[in-house]
Amino acid sequence: HTPHIAVLGSANMDLVTYVDRAPQRGETVTGREFRTIPGGKGVNQAVSAARAGATVSMIGAVGTDSYGTQIRCALAQSGVDTDLLRTVDAQSGTAHIVVDDKGGNAIVVIPGANGTVDELSAGDEAVIATADALLLQLEIPVDGVLAAARTARAHGVRTILTPAPAQPLPEALLAATDLLLPNEHEVRTLTGISDDPRAAALSLLPHVPEVVVTLGARGSLYAARGAEPVTVPARTTTAVDTTGAGDTFAGALAVALAEGRPMTDALGWASAAAALSVQRPGASASMPYRKEIDARTSGAAKGSPS
Ligand code: RIB
Ligand code: NA
Repeated sequence: HTPHIAVLGSANMDLVTYVDRAPQRGETVTGREFRTIPGGKGVNQAVSAARAGATVSMIGAVGTDSYGTQIRCALAQSGVDTDLLRTVDAQSGTAHIVVDDKGGNAIVVIPGANGTVDELSAGDEAVIATADALLLQLEIPVDGVLAAARTARAHGVRTILTPAPAQPLPEALLAATDLLLPNEHEVRTLTGISDDPRAAALSLLPHVPEVVVTLGARGSLYAARGAEPVTVPARTTTAVDTTGAGDTFAGALAVALAEGRPMTDALGWASAAAALSVQRPGASASMPYRKEIDARTSGAAKGSPS
């Protein structure tokens, strides 16, 4: 059956400037291009999961401005259900992004309407309770994230938490999470362990049963209680814009796991989705559809002990 994924999280308009080189403090540079592209970690993960083949419900908030309307339209165009995306009397969240010629970025986020998502409605709870998986990130108030994780836990729904932007997590949130999905920077913030994602992931296992550390171009590392960690490589690609690559990974991973695929297969598939997304500009706009991910993974490498 088609998996149903609930996503609680942020909705931003990404205001993206593409430059050859990011400016230093006090410096002005002339950029190449400016684009507005719907993003925010919640919206990105919702679009990724929908394009990867799931039925997706997006829970969050946009403002009364035109960005809010554009974000809602973009979600609908990718097939995401927006009935639980509220419009509140505030500015929509914005992300001010500079992308350099290596596809790397620097981002300032202004939460705006996302700051109001600190509790769940009865409708939100009902959708989370009946989903196959719940995707969470940290661009909305942690009270909202925690309420959703607890609802999912109470109904046996698998919760996948991307702990981004990097910040220390309340123990109660880790305790209600099934799979933690940090990148290298985030896992360092959570554990204090640098340059050793395997050791960092292992150190988190007393708090959460499964950890996947995304390693960018080097793929991902999976650690679970009572098993040897494995690394799943990524295929090399040239990056145009890596914004939202981690969200692409999260959305595709949730779909593959909800379809019952083994973890290493799911990680390879998610990694292919992320690799496709970095070859195109923008966050949500760059995310691949299921067919493209399948085409890319036919004959892909399998996981190996790390
Ligand atoms: O994870 C990528 C997202 O982070 C961007 O779309 C931007 O909105 C920032 O919040
Ligand atoms: Na991209």
